[in-house]
Amino acid sequence: MNARLTAHRGALLHFLTDPGEHDEAGAYEYFTDGLLLVADGRVQGLGPAETLLATLPADVEIVEHGNGLLLPGFIDTHIHYPQTEIIGSGGRQLLDWLSDYTFPAEARFGDAAYAREVADFFLDELLRNGTTTALVFGTVHRTSVDAFMQASQSRGLRMIAGKAMMDRHCPENLRDTAASSDRDNRALIERWHGTDRLHYAITPRFAVTCSDAQMQAAGTLAAEQPDVYVHSHLAENFGEIDWVHELHPWSRSYLDVYDRYGLVRERSVYAHCLHLDDTDRARLHEAEAGIAFCPTSNLYLGSGLFDLAATDAAGVRFGMGTDVGGGTSFSMLRTLGEAYKVAQLRQQTLTPLRAFYLATLGGARVLHLDDRIGSFRSGNEADFVVLDLAATPLLARRSAQARTLDETLRLAMTLGDDRAIRRCYVMGEAVERAA
Ligand code: GUN
Ligand code: ZN
Repeated sequence: MNARLTAHRGALLHFLTDPGEHDEAGAYEYFTDGLLLVADGRVQGLGPAETLLATLPADVEIVEHGNGLLLPGFIDTHIHYPQTEIIGSGGRQLLDWLSDYTFPAEARFGDAAYAREVADFFLDELLRNGTTTALVFGTVHRTSVDAFMQASQSRGLRMIAGKAMMDRHCPENLRDTAASSDRDNRALIERWHGTDRLHYAITPRFAVTCSDAQMQAAGTLAAEQPDVYVHSHLAENFGEIDWVHELHPWSRSYLDVYDRYGLVRERSVYAHCLHLDDTDRARLHEAEAGIAFCPTSNLYLGSGLFDLAATDAAGVRFGMGTDVGGGTSFSMLRTLGEAYKVAQLRQQTLTPLRAFYLATLGGARVLHLDDRIGSFRSGNEADFVVLDLAATPLLARRSAQARTLDETLRLAMTLGDDRAIRRCYVMGEAVERAA
């Protein structure tokens, strides 16, 4: 890590808090010609180039990003690395899609070499898209998590992952047991949680595939290890929801099932949450649990439209997830563009500023990591991305017409994708872009 002070010069944007529906002016800092100061992999400060340049020591290294826009690295709050190879499969809804495409693909991850090869590709793809932290599903195999953690560790990334727990209603070759999943979780926590920049997530796949005994064991472990994450799916699809009610006729709601087993708490993150009621939302808020909003997946699998307004009204924290491979893109820019369209279909508002908040500080808040990543706060880890708003002829032409930050960001999330990610930095070091 470079101890020397480096000043990155370009346009800078980061968030101090949620700008909300009305783009609160005090919620963000934006410098059209700014400097981001980095040393020892951490942010040392930022501000307008004109004033800061005069104060810097003579030996400072200045990296010129020209017309680039620097943002904190994107944070993906829900993604499955083993589904990289089924992205864009089939035209089915959730339960058929799982049995026809997902489970057969996941069966291969008992092979450590294959798992590592996919993990390497997956991380390269995330970084190509400007995503520097993610909350990641493995498969049922312990090896899948070892492979993912090793690949993340070798890149110095802050990543969260867990072994999928699933002991029923799935193919025999993908089943663990309550006891074996508990052993694996404990061994993986011991090996990886808190190692370098890595964290572990207890990952019951969803209430359908986890027996009562397995959920019980997950809840017990979650209580013993409060700073380990809980990561699962909730209220995504009507067929799934009906099944959960058949399996748990006593439950008030799908969320109530997880709650009964102690799985709704701080550092619990539930993907989708499309079909909740206000009691569920109030409970998520009270527990300080988070939601991963995954628009490309929700549209592709025909699952439903996330209710931003109801989520805000209840004060539940939420961030953005790509949900690859139910989701159709690794690109956070494309994901934000689809989130905007979901809000449109519900007659709700998602401003571009808020969208970029959700992809950065909002995600960090969902993961309770906002004291380390998600903004350019002094002392934070210097994971950041340089956007090229002239990356394609169309983006260049339209961006040249943009008069405001709102217009610029709207174009980035409407027309941008991996081509608009010029460079990514992890702990202040430029990432070599994979071919
Ligand atoms: N519910 C249970 N497993 C999955 C999965 O792999 N993807 C999605 N989108 N939903 C799920
Ligand atoms: Zn998912």
